[in-house]
Amino acid sequence: MIFERDRQRLLLQNASQTNIGSRKLLLNNLKQSLFRQVSGRWMFRLAKFLFFFILFGYLLWLWIARPQVIIDENFGESDPTSADSDITKIETLCSQSTSTCYSVVDIINHKTASVQRGMYIDGFEKEYDTVKELIPPKGMTFETSDTRMWTINNTAITTQYVAAMITQLFTTSALPLEDSGDSERELLVIGLGGGNFDMFLHTKRQNIKITVVELEPVVVQLATRWFGVVDNDQRKTVIKDGIVAISEAKDRASKYDAVILDACDNTKEMPCPAKTFLTDQILINIKSILKPMGTLIVNILPLKRHEINVEKVVKTLLSHFPVCIKMHMSYEANVVVSCLPYSFAADNLDDTKQLILQRAETATNNLGIHRVLEYLDLTIVLK
Ligand SMILES: *[C@@H]1O[C@H](CO)[C@@H](O)[C@H](O)[C@H]1NC(C)=O
Repeated sequence: MIFERDRQRLLLQNASQTNIGSRKLLLNNLKQSLFRQVSGRWMFRLAKFLFFFILFGYLLWLWIARPQVIIDENFGESDPTSADSDITKIETLCSQSTSTCYSVVDIINHKTASVQRGMYIDGFEKEYDTVKELIPPKGMTFETSDTRMWTINNTAITTQYVAAMITQLFTTSALPLEDSGDSERELLVIGLGGGNFDMFLHTKRQNIKITVVELEPVVVQLATRWFGVVDNDQRKTVIKDGIVAISEAKDRASKYDAVILDACDNTKEMPCPAKTFLTDQILINIKSILKPMGTLIVNILPLKRHEINVEKVVKTLLSHFPVCIKMHMSYEANVVVSCLPYSFAADNLDDTKQLILQRAETATNNLGIHRVLEYLDLTIVLK
């Protein structure tokens, strides 16, 4: 039917170029001779044409579009276990108090021609505590120089959960988006690893005071030697049990803008956070060393029974904090939770969520970590 009407219009257009008389004549011709007799044949031709047209289009799509759909299994060049990489062990040190050994490796990715440095606990080779990007000496590649001489790029974030912990500092008002008031800001970080979180922040926002507490002296040694971790007036590492550090901070009446709990134990089901931090007394102490607008940020790493374990931790946190904000990663099992000592009004949570998302987006753009996170997945959980 459509085709008939188009043809009619075409003929009428032709007709209007001649004169009105012949237009009438054409119309009559059209009705009487053309359509009654010919339209059946035209319809058949049209159907045939459409069939081949669609078939051709589909084959063309298969041929052109298909190979472009590439599934990127090495997102962010952060998968050190990829088949395209070579791993060279740099150093292994063992704890004197526990039997835990820590290994530092350089991971050469042939596909991206980049080198990363990682640290893992022996026995957990698949779960790196830290991965950092290396910077080659000018004009050098891994083929022409020893990667042990390369420097660390502290502003390159390779894991989503670290980007999420940084983002959580800004989702609420723990840290301002602008750096103007930074000199009055102070953070307490429990767990050093390779210093991804704190060295990134220290490099980007130099006036924020950061204290990192690490229980294991061997980790501090490796982080300083191989991961570009530095001590200065603004950022320092303290070798101490985090539980003791929190309790001492409470006795000193210190107040922090954020306490970041990134400490893990060696349980296989959920290594992070270390369970010793989830007692009532420790959570009460942490709450007492937060400023009124401060936040507690917790890295949760469930390796089994994901949902159940995350819910358990969040429930424990909510018994001391009125509200938590959960962030899920798209490529990692980690869930990063930020808990506040103050609450949100329950009747306009949607508006609050929009505001939080806006702040998170601005912060990740300003800090250049939006591509690591890929997208923001936030959930507000009230007590
Ligand atoms: C360090 O990493 C950042 C973020 O990926 C990048 O923009 C910067 O160019 C890197 N620096 C060097 C010296 O390679």
